[in-house]
Amino acid sequence: MKALILSGGKGTRLRPITHTSAKQLIPIANKPIIYYGLEAIRDAGITDIGIVVGETKNEIKTALGDGKKWGVKLTYIEQEAPLGLAHAVKISEKFLKKDPFVMYLGDNIVKDGVNSFIDEFKKSKPNAMILLAHVKNPQEFGVAELKNGKVVRLEEKPGKPKTDLALVGVYLFDHNIFKAIRHIKPSRRNELEITDAISYLINKKFSVQSHIITGWWKDTGKLEDLLEANRIILDGLEPSRKGRVDSESKLYGKVVVEKGAIVSKSVIRGPAIIGSGAKITNSYIGPFTSVSSNAVIENSEIEHSMVLENSKIENISRIEDSLIGKSVVVSKYPHKPAAYRFMLGDSSQVGVV
Ligand code: DAU
Repeated sequence: MKALILSGGKGTRLRPITHTSAKQLIPIANKPIIYYGLEAIRDAGITDIGIVVGETKNEIKTALGDGKKWGVKLTYIEQEAPLGLAHAVKISEKFLKKDPFVMYLGDNIVKDGVNSFIDEFKKSKPNAMILLAHVKNPQEFGVAELKNGKVVRLEEKPGKPKTDLALVGVYLFDHNIFKAIRHIKPSRRNELEITDAISYLINKKFSVQSHIITGWWKDTGKLEDLLEANRIILDGLEPSRKGRVDSESKLYGKVVVEKGAIVSKSVIRGPAIIGSGAKITNSYIGPFTSVSSNAVIENSEIEHSMVLENSKIENISRIEDSLIGKSVVVSKYPHKPAAYRFMLGDSSQVGVV
């Protein structure tokens, strides 16, 4: 069995972060999102993995390399434009050949991994298997209708969803999916939709199984999703203290201080993670916060937020519910006139008090 991880696309809902960086590389609890998928696939015993890449291919290749670090072999497949999930499968036929495969969307995190679904697929050998989950906002996903436990209809992001069962970004297929893709046409949003290819399989009476998952999963498409994913993953971390914490600092709950991090005169309430080389001085780091490597936080308070690498926060009384990108500086301007002074990238969002 092979695997295909999709890490092309544009990430428009996460601008400005995605102006300069692939969305699949945004760190959740200081680990790039795509690593979670890759590790889930590796843990299911699959080692031959194709990575579909788009305009951020160099960054993805630098982050994943040849896969040896994970004990897997990676093959990069270049997609000329984000023409749809089914298009990504279509261009991967040479790599996938006749092997059954799991397709994993590189911006999804499935907390309990994918072992059980892959085992079930191997055992019952359907032509396709989809994972479904009850959600509050089905109109933002592919939506499934079931009858007596069988999938009878799929619709991509319907205006009026008939159920609350969303397609999770993990799919299992045998080679018949290529035939289905050859029969579909681009959708309204001009993409070859995998939902339409699976609908073809259903209509032509191929066996399409579904599995409703109850564990936590997330499509990290928006800021709130990233903060939620960060919250859930941080909550599952084992506390550890490899960096330096001075005697004037206090750590409460699950706190990870990575090697090379320095915490002084500060209070950290977990779950929280402080990355390698980060410096926290005279500050309060509240629950559900991750501070990436080499970030600096001084005389500030921050909670329920993600601060990416090399950023600096100085003399700010309180930041909450925020994603601070890489190499960002947020500081108090010491001179008069007192005013907000910004240099913000396109599509930035700022909430002032
Ligand atoms: O997350 C689950 C949802 O994923 C499903 O419920 C939907 O049915 C499915 O269409 C998909 O919807 P999204 O709108 O969230 O897909 P998105 O465009 O975000 O792409 C998902 C991943 O695949 C992302 O890592 C980018 C990558 N991708 C996307 C496209 C369109 C590619 O590599 N190539 C592409 O052409």
